[in-house]
Amino acid sequence: MPKGVSALELTLNERPPGIALTRWLHEELRHAVLDGRLRPGTRLPASRDFARQYGVSRGTAVTVFEQLLSEGYLRSQVGAGTWINERLPENLFGAKRPPVAVVSRPARLSKLKFPHPARPFRAHEPAIAEFPVEVWARIASRRLRRVTSALLAGGDARGYGPLCTAIAEYLGSSRGVNCSPEQVVIVSGVQQALDLLARLLLKPGDAVWMEDPGYFGAITAFTNVGARIIPVPVDEHGISVSKGKQLCARAKGAYLTPAHQFPLGMTMPLERRLAILRWAHDARAFLIEDDYDSEFRFQGRPVPSLQGLDKGESVILLGTFNKLLFPSLRLGYVVLPPALVDPFLAFRYGTDLHPAGLDQSILCDFIVEGHMGRHIRRMRELYAARLAALQAGGQRYLGGLLDISPIQVGLYTASFLRNGMTSREAETRATAHGIETMALSRFTLKRNDVQGLLLGFAAFDERQIRRGLEGLAAALDRKQGEAAG
Ligand SMILES: Cc1ncc(COP(=O)(O)O)c(C=O)c1O
Repeated sequence: MPKGVSALELTLNERPPGIALTRWLHEELRHAVLDGRLRPGTRLPASRDFARQYGVSRGTAVTVFEQLLSEGYLRSQVGAGTWINERLPENLFGAKRPPVAVVSRPARLSKLKFPHPARPFRAHEPAIAEFPVEVWARIASRRLRRVTSALLAGGDARGYGPLCTAIAEYLGSSRGVNCSPEQVVIVSGVQQALDLLARLLLKPGDAVWMEDPGYFGAITAFTNVGARIIPVPVDEHGISVSKGKQLCARAKGAYLTPAHQFPLGMTMPLERRLAILRWAHDARAFLIEDDYDSEFRFQGRPVPSLQGLDKGESVILLGTFNKLLFPSLRLGYVVLPPALVDPFLAFRYGTDLHPAGLDQSILCDFIVEGHMGRHIRRMRELYAARLAALQAGGQRYLGGLLDISPIQVGLYTASFLRNGMTSREAETRATAHGIETMALSRFTLKRNDVQGLLLGFAAFDERQIRRGLEGLAAALDRKQGEAAG
């Protein structure tokens, strides 16, 4: 390509019979500018190259360019080139178009913004600054240097085979999951899995049990397919199976967070796990087990997954590396019962074929070479210390205002208001004091406000936690607020 000429690969419509060549070419270029295919500032090839590219004479190209120049669509500088004019008259693009009609409802939390860096006490953020970027970079550059054509070609809807194997082994040894690598499908995270599963397993009007309070991402996925959400109350052991049966015994399935209930934090004991498995077996229902952060258990032994107890192939396990490693990684997995693998993969072809190959191969090496295990162990210690700082600081600064749950798992903890405020009021006041927190009422469906706030601790050092607690105390103490006001 001649020096200094930008690539212009514009597809032109066929010239209709009876239309002069110059008129046709002028109209094609003008429309390309008007509908934005040729952006303001785009440089056009020299008329000679343009003529050759589109099989017209140079004279025709010059005539059309000159006409567009005189109309203000182009600007040129002698000896330098010709560009699409940056200052197109506003009305060239016509009046503002009416917005395209949206049929589904926006997600429940779509208005919340998560600017970077996070402020205390954002709940879903791991300690990004602690991620061993140099190790990741070393693996990435090695993978790129030795990249195989098979990896570049991709094509397996399950994801990168060796990564599926590594995940199956990791889950078997650390989470008591009972699966072969063929049951593991790589996705971009829990949310993509929920979206695909909701569309695969539910028809409009189908009933599905949802923990109340529960995870908004699951509510959104089920709502999007028009499913009938049955809010089932959560007690101190997790979702209440007896209440669920009273409300809708023949539901198609249930969404659960048994290792670490979102947002209240409790772990489901064995008896409750067996009860829900029994119900799923009798009702021929599916159970979606969202195991989103249980690697970070600070006391006692890791709790084996519900999937590992399942004899009836009801459980679909979801996990994510987006919290374990870093949020923008966008890699997670689904462990499917064997009978669901093919339908799930066939369905997946309709959205994204498979996840990005290179990132999967880097993650695979990161796991197989032991870096993930090391990172988890380091983070477990760090997060335990941060949680301890939050709980100790909570007693010091928030006595009589807010009780922080004693729960010992995950990246966040629930806390309960003792000052009579609703959780929304507390959230609003906290925001005004520069504190990032979410009202527990954001996660309730039918039950009354669980008066409390979600507090994340993993991403903040002890100084930030102390400052955050001071800010929260000022926000929640009406007397302090009134004195200051
Ligand atoms: C309960 C629960 N599941 C899943 C996720 C999201 O996982 P992912 O980022 O992999 O979609 C979150 C994020 O906050 C969560 O709280």
